[in-house]
Amino acid sequence: MSTVGSIPGVTANGAKIPLLGLGTWDLRGRTCAHIVEAALRLGYRHIDTAEMYDNERDVGEGLHASGVKRADVFVTTKVWPSHFAPRELERAVRESLARLRVRQVDLLLLHWPNPQIPLRDTLGALCKVKRDGLTRHIGVSNFTVKLVAEAVQVATEPLVCNQVECHPFLDQSKVIAACRKHGMAVVAYSPIARGSARNDKVLARIGTAHGKSAPQVCLRFLVQQDIVVIPRTSKEQRLSENAAIFDFSLSAGEMAEIAQLARRDGRLVDWSYSGSAQWD
Ligand SMILES: NC(=O)c1ccc[n+]([C@@H]2O[C@H](COP(=O)([O-])OP(=O)(O)OC[C@H]3O[C@@H](n4cnc5c(N)ncnc54)[C@H](OP(=O)(O)O)[C@@H]3O)[C@@H](O)[C@H]2O)c1
Repeated sequence: MSTVGSIPGVTANGAKIPLLGLGTWDLRGRTCAHIVEAALRLGYRHIDTAEMYDNERDVGEGLHASGVKRADVFVTTKVWPSHFAPRELERAVRESLARLRVRQVDLLLLHWPNPQIPLRDTLGALCKVKRDGLTRHIGVSNFTVKLVAEAVQVATEPLVCNQVECHPFLDQSKVIAACRKHGMAVVAYSPIARGSARNDKVLARIGTAHGKSAPQVCLRFLVQQDIVVIPRTSKEQRLSENAAIFDFSLSAGEMAEIAQLARRDGRLVDWSYSGSAQWD
């Protein structure tokens, strides 16, 4: 398999995040370790995991087996909301680091908001683990416009991203604008709509004009707006497909046509974890 060229990054509040990463939700054991290793050998330099995925050991195995220098890989993990009390948070992070077999991660996120624990306390703990060197950068995930503003206000260290569901079939314009206002990157999860981008006629037609697949057009649409994408695959051939998105551009007209696919109710991921009925 030929390697991908160097992957551009986005700069946000002091962090440089590669625009393409590998998502690992639902991958475990040998499959997970193998795909992480293959992705890194191919040229991926960003891996997304979480304590909740129950695969940090496997991600660590793939990371170490790849032979790529630790400093060259951007590793993100996330703390689950049941561990948001300050002492619990620090313990959870130390356990994540032990499973990954790294001294620090590059980015540590609060996985979902937890309305049961004051955000100020959790952010205090998140900032502290950053100051203690357990992570290079911190951020949030699944935070609404209102919660992003609140988090930025109480954090004493810069928040570098909000990781949210983001693909052409979901209107996330408000939360994207909120992140930009605060200098935060948007990291798109489910960026190919859990694989369904493949069946979209508009993406497929635009892809044909560029010699690209519908998922490649879908990912290009996001990275062309400086939105970081973390598509997940368990298949080696799709690693290269999902990475070949930096050698073509979509025209303004094509971008506008894809933007028309967005729906307010296009969400795929169960939002009930958030404890909030409202996105913005
Ligand atoms: N922060 C959060 O709350 C949160 C929530 C959800 C996800 N995430 C993160 O975001 C990552 C990505 O999101 P996701 O896994 O939900 O969805 P996704 O990346 O949009 O889609 C993954 C699915 O698409 C398939 N696929 C991958 N490449 C493809 C291609 N080129 N053509 C057709 N199908 C393709 C995969 O199947 P194969 O394996 O068969 O290729 C898999 O079933 C996760 O893995 C996780 O790291 C975060």
